[in-house]
Amino acid sequence: MDENEKQYIYIIQASLEPSKCKIGKTNDLDRRLKEYNNMTGKSKENIYQYLFTCEVVDMSAVENAIKDEFSFLREVKSKEIYFYNPELLNKYVKFIKSHPLFIKEIFIKKEEKKQEIKIVKKTTPSLEERGLSQKDLLQNAQKAKNDEFYTRYEDVEKEIEMYDKNIWEDKCVFCNCDDAVDTDERKSSAFSLYFMRNFRELGLRKLICTHYGGGIDLFNQGAKGYVYTYIFTKNGFKELKEYPKGYTGSFDDPLSLKILNEEADIVCTNPPFSKTIEYWQILIESGKKFLVISNIANITRPTFITYFINEQVWAGYNRVDYYFNPKRQLVDASGHWYTNIPINDRPKRKHLKIMPLKDIPEKHKKYDDSKILMVDDCYIPSDYKKTFAVSVRPILNGLLEKGYKIIQDKEYYPYINGKKKFARVLVQKI
Ligand SMILES: C[S@@+](CC[C@H](N)C(=O)[O-])C[C@H]1O[C@@H](n2cnc3c(N)ncnc32)[C@H](O)[C@@H]1O
Repeated sequence: MDENEKQYIYIIQASLEPSKCKIGKTNDLDRRLKEYNNMTGKSKENIYQYLFTCEVVDMSAVENAIKDEFSFLREVKSKEIYFYNPELLNKYVKFIKSHPLFIKEIFIKKEEKKQEIKIVKKTTPSLEERGLSQKDLLQNAQKAKNDEFYTRYEDVEKEIEMYDKNIWEDKCVFCNCDDAVDTDERKSSAFSLYFMRNFRELGLRKLICTHYGGGIDLFNQGAKGYVYTYIFTKNGFKELKEYPKGYTGSFDDPLSLKILNEEADIVCTNPPFSKTIEYWQILIESGKKFLVISNIANITRPTFITYFINEQVWAGYNRVDYYFNPKRQLVDASGHWYTNIPINDRPKRKHLKIMPLKDIPEKHKKYDDSKILMVDDCYIPSDYKKTFAVSVRPILNGLLEKGYKIIQDKEYYPYINGKKKFARVLVQKI
């Protein structure tokens, strides 16, 4: 080889294989791209495009380093085909750029623009044909809009890392309200990405993510639901995206329920806010292990209180203070993790200030109009035998694990001087 010849590393992808990419080496990037595109023959649909190219000092050495580093992400050992998603691409690029033999970046593909939703006018039935009124449509739109908030990757990571790793061993994780990995990161849920990236480390057997067709389907046209399956075999990772006929992708679709009941071991997601009641009911009835995000105040609401009383659910470790909106802007959230997986020595229990009633500062204890003691700021009386009212925070911090129980399965709104206060939970020392 000519010593002065330049050396390059490239990451390339075929448009028909969006879940894979090839990482290779060449002395001539233009020629190599043409070779790939000649290989696919006359097919205009399957076009190869570079995702990343760079110049290096010794392409074979860098190529070998990539093979070593990402061996578990190769589709088959004999080829340089690697699993692709935007997170992984970042990893590959970061690794190459930090290699001592890296010289300079030549090209990196910019993030794709969001796909536009096409509405094919000819096949659009009228509102009347669909049995809908203008008002139904607006309500559907509003509901769908209120559900479109997305979990940050770091929130998923922070929570899952708190649990014993062995709970995931050989398990099938089911994310039943999650857009699975797409070529555009903004269309992938953080849950899917987290489990794919940590699949081996957690020792998972299978990941199934179902996509709900209705979220963008404001016109009730039945956008397609799909089932995405990800498994690791002796030949590497395998993924499958199926669009079963008539499948809506809804968590209560018969196929989703079949997966839930027959395949899933652990369910993880942030379900739609507008359907929390139905979602929890199905989830808890399934008897499966779960780790889900929901509103911080669930425990004050009548439909949920019994689940907590019956110990069918308890708070996970962390609160969730931010979501992304569909424009990927951070917005405030009032979420919390909920689970039925054992909690190890909950760190937040130390926020509970359990002490004799007389030691609780006056401003943090008062009596409501029906003479029920109300304590706040996580102060808890240790010597009070009667029922008292707390806000959700001490419960989420583990009060029920410290010898206290919820004593009323209905909402409780204290009144002070006739003024209604925010909902509390009535508890008592066991
Ligand atoms: C709060 S968002 C969270 C999305 C994703 N799980 C995450 O954590 O980023 C809830 C999602 O559920 C979808 N959804 C709405 N109704 C659904 C249903 N019946 N079944 C499954 N998913 C649904 C919405 O379109 C929305 O994308």
